[in-house]
Amino acid sequence: MNTLSINNLSLTYKNGFQAIKDISLEIGNGMFGLLGPNGAGKSSLMKTIVGLQKPSSGTLFFNEVNIAENPGYIKQNLGFLPQDFGVYPKVSAYDLLEHIAVLKGITDKTKGKTQILNLLEKVNLSDFRNKEVHTFSGGMKQRFGVAQALLGDPKIIIVDEPTAGLDPEERNRFNALLNDISQEVIVILSTHLVEDVRNLCSEMAVMNHGQILRKGNPGQLMAALENRIWSKPIDKNDLETYDASYEIISRQLIERELHITVFSEESPKDFSPVTPLLEHVYFHTLTQKP
Ligand SMILES: Nc1ncnc2c1ncn2[C@@H]1O[C@H](COP(=O)(O)OP(=O)(O)OP(=O)(O)O)[C@@H](O)[C@H]1O
Ligand SMILES: [Mg+2]
Repeated sequence: MNTLSINNLSLTYKNGFQAIKDISLEIGNGMFGLLGPNGAGKSSLMKTIVGLQKPSSGTLFFNEVNIAENPGYIKQNLGFLPQDFGVYPKVSAYDLLEHIAVLKGITDKTKGKTQILNLLEKVNLSDFRNKEVHTFSGGMKQRFGVAQALLGDPKIIIVDEPTAGLDPEERNRFNALLNDISQEVIVILSTHLVEDVRNLCSEMAVMNHGQILRKGNPGQLMAALENRIWSKPIDKNDLETYDASYEIISRQLIERELHITVFSEESPKDFSPVTPLLEHVYFHTLTQKP
């Protein structure tokens, strides 16, 4: 079992902006989903975990090793797929993986070769191994990103919005791949796609304004909203009135009729009960003021 302990972590950027505010999380093997809107601080947190930036305060332990005191330990065991992979050089997929393998300390050429060929197979890029990476489609680039993250058998894999820009088929394939590898390692997935977290993650946290607002098992978080989610079709001219009296967590046009979904402890008059979805957990959490 691997463990990542994040204790009272804070990060203030040079311009004085505090992107992470006193975050504490315990993460074990399996897939952990970090959900939050644009600017919530997800990438800031991930970059801090992988050691690309130093926290202003707080501690990080990977398998009980203090990351600040021994940064080499997590680096040797880490696979990271950043949100912006940056510029893709004009070299073939195989050659780029070989180069990254060396950077990751895989010095045995034969072992490196076997591993690279296996990974290319796993991410469905074997046929394209001699093609230059900058000519790849978005989905192929993401799969290549996973292959490089998996080099060296990492114990902790961090992927930052990996499915953004992928078509549904590529997204499913990508998610299946992550799911496959997450059995014996930690996979932290940052996304704003609630559906991906519901389908893949056993633990999750909702982040906004640099803080963790809610954490737990997706099923349990949904169960906690049982008998608290209600829906009603309304006249769109009445929206303001409803907005003033209810916590509206979503609005949806269904056959050109406006339906509102609200959070309420009591049964509101003329509303129908709704089975809670993870989307309700997410939007209800985001309505909380920091
Ligand atoms: N280097 C930096 N210097 C100053 N502020 C920064 C820096 N990087 C990010 N920020 C700010 O920190 C906040 C969090 O940004 P971050 O990229 O971590 O959010 P995010 O949750 O990953 O968003 P997205 O979903 O859009 O990727 C934002 O307000 C952003 O403008
Ligand atoms: Mg981000």
